[in-house]
Amino acid sequence: MSNQSLPDSLFTFIGSTPTPFHAAANIVRILKIAGFNILNENEKWAIDQEGKYAITRNGSVVAFTTGKGNFTQQGFRIAGAHTDSPSLQLKPHPRSPLSPYFQFSVEKYGGVLLNTWFDRELSLAGRVTVLTEDGSACSCLIDFQKPVLYIPSLAIHLDRKVNEGKEINAQNDICPIFAQNVSSEDQWHCLLLERLNAANSDLAARSVLGYDLFCYDCAPPRYFGLDHEFICGPRLDNLLSCFIALQALLDKEGPSNCMLIFTNHEEIGSTSSSGALSNFSSSVLARICGSVEDQAMAINRSFFISFDNAHASHPNFSDKGDTDHQVVLNKGPVIKINSSQRYCSNSRSGAMFKLLCAEIGVQTQDFIMRSDMACGSTIGPLTSAVLGVEGVDVGVPTWAMHSIREVTGAMDPELIYLAAHHFFNRDTLPVISII
Ligand code: CO
Repeated sequence: MSNQSLPDSLFTFIGSTPTPFHAAANIVRILKIAGFNILNENEKWAIDQEGKYAITRNGSVVAFTTGKGNFTQQGFRIAGAHTDSPSLQLKPHPRSPLSPYFQFSVEKYGGVLLNTWFDRELSLAGRVTVLTEDGSACSCLIDFQKPVLYIPSLAIHLDRKVNEGKEINAQNDICPIFAQNVSSEDQWHCLLLERLNAANSDLAARSVLGYDLFCYDCAPPRYFGLDHEFICGPRLDNLLSCFIALQALLDKEGPSNCMLIFTNHEEIGSTSSSGALSNFSSSVLARICGSVEDQAMAINRSFFISFDNAHASHPNFSDKGDTDHQVVLNKGPVIKINSSQRYCSNSRSGAMFKLLCAEIGVQTQDFIMRSDMACGSTIGPLTSAVLGVEGVDVGVPTWAMHSIREVTGAMDPELIYLAAHHFFNRDTLPVISII
């Protein structure tokens, strides 16, 4: 680990990771520096013992380390998380010039808490596909890094009933303002091309073919509270989990076979070429294991921890939580439970996680929804179903999930890191026998 504290390293990671495409690129860059071989899905693989490998696909990453032993005897310790966060995604064409300002039209990406996106300095980042001077097409990442967008609220004088409950119309009310001196789509494309060519000296991009661009809060995460007990920041769900699981794998010293599965598109249901419902993780496992039988044996001996943030009990809205299952910031990782398997946890897999945490003196908490409210979900049950692996859903306690700025405890990254690190490092996993 670097000289920075864990939360400070997390803040740096989140600050440089505005979109799932940047998440995949940054994670692969960090893995490469740590000696991982980057494999291409369109080439043959040769997997060695005591090797380190990573593969990326459309905003998702699978990375794995191999030990000395046989996969069929030892299985894999698998940690999962998602690379995307709720956001506002630009539509292909800007808003037609109805006002003296250049504005974009946006779509909601995922379950956005819309009212939190007003009155913030926003930036813009994502992936642009261009045609270059030599006639070839190329996709590249872009990040404006500075505040370039803003969605102003309507003054209370113009809507006196706003505090009695205001509906937000996603088509009309949240079009971000970008500029006053841009008047056409062509001008906007020229700006994009200039920026891309300045950042990539060999690119020579000449026209824009398409983009996946997202608005984001460019204010970095920070501590708050009298004694800095809390952390607030953008995209804690779920870049925090990606970063912690990645760091735990990089710090692993033991001989176990370990795997990270970081998938895109969780916030929109995970159905895509690289989402948790795709064949990405199962295809990698099949290629590592070689035969159907070896893969089945390896999976049967594997264990999966799905890391994603958990709702902490909200002191102002205590009636929205199950009061018999309080979840408190800075009090340890949360095991998420749901009888309909919206989370993949069960009493056995939860017990496995509790045993691991107890061994290192880390307390756990249980989250369960009120029985009269619908429950959210994670990549946990999807990955568990796609691979056929037993797993548990855990995460850091979080307030304001899906707000542009979410909150967790200042100790929570460290507590869940300790659990993830022990999971990867323990000689063998605790055995829970069946009688
Ligand atoms: Co999440």
